[in-house]
Order: sequence, then C-alpha cells, then structure tokens
Amino acid sequence: MVKTGMYVGLDIGTSSIKVIVAEFVENQMNIIGVGNARSEGVSRGIIVDIDKTVNAIKAAVTQAEEKAGIKIRRVNVGIPANLLQSEDCQGMIAVSNQTKEINDEDVLNVAAAALVRSIPPEREIIAMLPESFTVDGFEGIKDPRGMLGVRLEMYGTIFTGPKTVIHNTRKCVENAGLQVDEIIITPLALTNSILSEGERDFGTTVIDMGGGQTTTAVMHDNQLKYTDVNQEGGDFVTKDISIVLNTSMKNAEALKINYGDAFPERTSTEEEIPVDVIGQAEPVKIDERYLSEIIEARIEQIFQKAKDKLDAIEALKLPGGVVLSGGAARLPGVVELAQDIFEVPVKLYVPNHMGLRDPAFANVLAIAEYAVSLDEVYELTKSAITGERPKTFHQPTSPKVNAPASIQEEEVEEEPIYEMHEEQEPSHSDEFDFTTDETDEEHEHAPSHPAQKRSGTKSVGGKIKDFFSNIFE
Ligand SMILES: Nc1ncnc2c1ncn2[C@@H]1O[C@H](COP(=O)(O)OP(=O)(O)OP(=O)(O)O)[C@@H](O)[C@H]1O
Ligand SMILES: [Mg+2]
Repeated sequence: MVKTGMYVGLDIGTSSIKVIVAEFVENQMNIIGVGNARSEGVSRGIIVDIDKTVNAIKAAVTQAEEKAGIKIRRVNVGIPANLLQSEDCQGMIAVSNQTKEINDEDVLNVAAAALVRSIPPEREIIAMLPESFTVDGFEGIKDPRGMLGVRLEMYGTIFTGPKTVIHNTRKCVENAGLQVDEIIITPLALTNSILSEGERDFGTTVIDMGGGQTTTAVMHDNQLKYTDVNQEGGDFVTKDISIVLNTSMKNAEALKINYGDAFPERTSTEEEIPVDVIGQAEPVKIDERYLSEIIEARIEQIFQKAKDKLDAIEALKLPGGVVLSGGAARLPGVVELAQDIFEVPVKLYVPNHMGLRDPAFANVLAIAEYAVSLDEVYELTKSAITGERPKTFHQPTSPKVNAPASIQEEEVEEEPIYEMHEEQEPSHSDEFDFTTDETDEEHEHAPSHPAQKRSGTKSVGGKIKDFFSNIFE
C-alpha cells in the first residue's frame, strides 16, 4: 500500500529527545523538521521524572515545529525494550457474513479471539502483529479481506511491556500537549528500518548504543526474535573518563568526542592531550593510548555481555553479523573493537538523510518509517486491543453478531495531525522471556582495568539455546 502524508517520530532518549517531521510522498520519506533537545528526567532509558521529561519533549517538539513550519499535534513515540516480552498468538472464527466474504469485522473478531489470554496486572499489550491468515485451510494470506471462506484463522505475535513504562511514556507525551498516534517498540522499528530485506530474513543482530543503555535486538525470518537491554551506555564511558582522570563530566565528554578511540592498538603513546584535572592549576598531559584504554574497557564490557547472551541463543551464527547504531557508536574504533569481540562482520549504520547523518537519529527515523508501514490490517488488530473503532473501518452491509459495542456505536472524531503555522510555509531543509534486562548491581560495576585482556565466552544455558535454535529452524 502506497502511503502519503506527514508523520512525526519522537524518541525519548537518556541523552537527548529527538523529534522528526517526515513527509511521505508515495513511500518516499522527506524530512521537513528536526528537533533535538537535551534530555532531562530519563535515566538509563527509562522515564524517572515526568515533569522534566515533558519540558524536554516540548523543547524538542518546538524546534521541529519551527523548522517544519507546522504545529505538531500528534506523534508516534518509541518505547524501549526494557522488560519487553513476546508471545505467539492464534485465533479462529467462523466467518459471520452471510455472503461469506471476509470483511473488516471478521478480521477484528479473529484478532480479538487471538488476544484471549491472561496478562499479569503489571503488564500491558503494546501491539499485536498479525503475521498470516488462513482461510478454510489455505495458509500464508496477508490480508484475507474480500476473500470467500467460512473459517478464518490468524497467526501473529503479541508484545507486552511493563504498564508503568507505557503509562509514563503516554503521560509525558500527553502532558506535553500532544496526542499519541502509535506507541512503537523502538528496536522493532529499528531492525525493520536499518536492515536490508536479506538481513531481516537470513538473520542479523542490531546493537543500539545509546547514552544510558545498550539494546541488542535479533531479527530473523523477518521477525524480531530477541531483545536484551544492558543499562550501560556511552554516558558510562564519559563517567569512567571523568573518574579515572579526575576531571569534570563536561571535560570528560569533550575528551571522548574530540580525542576518543575505542581501539587502543591504533592510537599513539606519543600524542599527548591536555586534561584539566580537579585540584591542579596546570593541565595534566595524558597520552592518547591511555584515554583509549579507558574507553575500550567500558565498551568491551558492554560488547562482552552482549556476546555472552547472543552466544547463548546462537544468534552470532546468523549470516547478517552485527550492525551498530546509536550515538555511542560514533566513537572511532567501535566497529573494530566489536569485530574483535563478536568475531563476525560488523558495520556501522549511518542514516542517509541530509543533516541527519548521525547514528543517534537512526531510532527516531525508524519510528516514523514504522508508523508509515502500519497497514489497515494492523489498524484492525489494534482495535481489538483498544476497543476503539479503527479509522479505516468499513461498516459491513448486514448486521453482525459478536461485533464489539465500540464498533457499532462509537463515532470517530477526526482531528488534524498538524496545523500549519499561519505565517509560515513548510520549508524543506535538509513464549519466553523476551528480554534479559540487567539488574542495577550488574551495571554499576566499573569495567575491568583497561589493561585486562578480553575474557572468553561464558558457558551457554542449554535450555535457552535449544529454545532459540528451535525458533531459528
Ligand atoms: N561524536 C561522538 N563520539 C562519541 N560518542 C558520542 C558522539 N556523539 C554522541 N556520543 C555519545 O552518544 C550517546 C548518546 O547517544 P543517543 O543519542 O543514541 O542516546 P539516547 O538515545 O539519548 O540514550 P538511550 O538510548 O540510552 O536512552 C552519549 O553517551 C554521547 O556521549
Ligand atoms: Mg536511544
């Protein structure tokens, strides 16, 4: 389906809040507005202060509005993979229409049947992704509407997340004066956006290196098979530099960005860098290699933890290797270090949009792209979750049994997504625990000393391995 229109993506990160306004013309994306505001109120990827987060969202949205020349009303917001779980689902119904031609309502009803399950009170369904339908035994149908049949089955995946994370995200967006269009699982959008068709099909690992956390996601068979969140990120590298060199966080960040390299082997012991050390009148000189060793220690620890988990599910045997993204992946030497540790081909993903050639923007771009890719069948399954009538719902011609009350009675109130600024024209500028989040104790540990050599792979949990191998088959 070719889509046209404007979509806003919002990525609430630990280091910064990113907003993009994307205009899609026949599935071609043009970025017409960008906002990037320093984040407050987010710690290790999780919202911990609603008011501060709201202010940061407003600042980023205002920037994007000014650049795009529009008033943003609704956004598609990303949600991190912390404690994300996925489960296969299936539903089956008898087609209710007298003519036996499958319509919107049948799709909605089969989705509702697939949703029947008990969910713990602290969790909530984020999304249900329909993978295929079967009509009277004929499998592999993407959209059964308009087909004739008496029995309709749906197979898909349900994603659930912690209610508190979903609630806080929604609350922050709403308190910033915006409506939530879609809540989108960020690594799901990212893997769909940055991987090629072959990489998604044959299997690839994506590692999003943020400021407060590192998210590993494995895509295989065009499905998100695994996510893991390690609540350590680029900001921890800065903190390490600050502690080891006894310098402020601001200086440490500047040292990292201006002179940092995660691969000490290629740095020089001759090249000296002046560092403002607390309590010293004159800057102290350190060599480039020493700075690099401090950086390497933390990044190596992050990669090693990811590798242990990926080995346990044999994901590194997938042919796509590893793709890195996120702001922390901008550090020189990160790809080389990753290659050394994962021992598979590694590449860095850099978005190809003018003014956004920074891996930190990969997520927000992916969120907007993903929102565009959601089709009418998805809208119908979403309605089965929310009980709200889908925008695209085609009212059946004959009265139906079992139609949810919300569909028969509710009237849809159409709200414009954007409002043009009067004074401006838009200016075109450039079933298993799915996640294994770390506990606080683990990530608090500083990495081993820079000089320490890389440790070998941990032993593999047989149960998880068998399970995951099965998925991959
Ligand atoms: N040029 C650079 N070199 C090295 N590191 C960089 C560079 N630019 C940004 N970073 C680091 O990238 C990190 C921020 O990345 P990003 O914007 O992807 O994080 P975030 O999405 O805000 O956080 P998270 O995803 O963890 O919630 C910070 O730690 C920052 O120091
Ligand atoms: Mg991020």
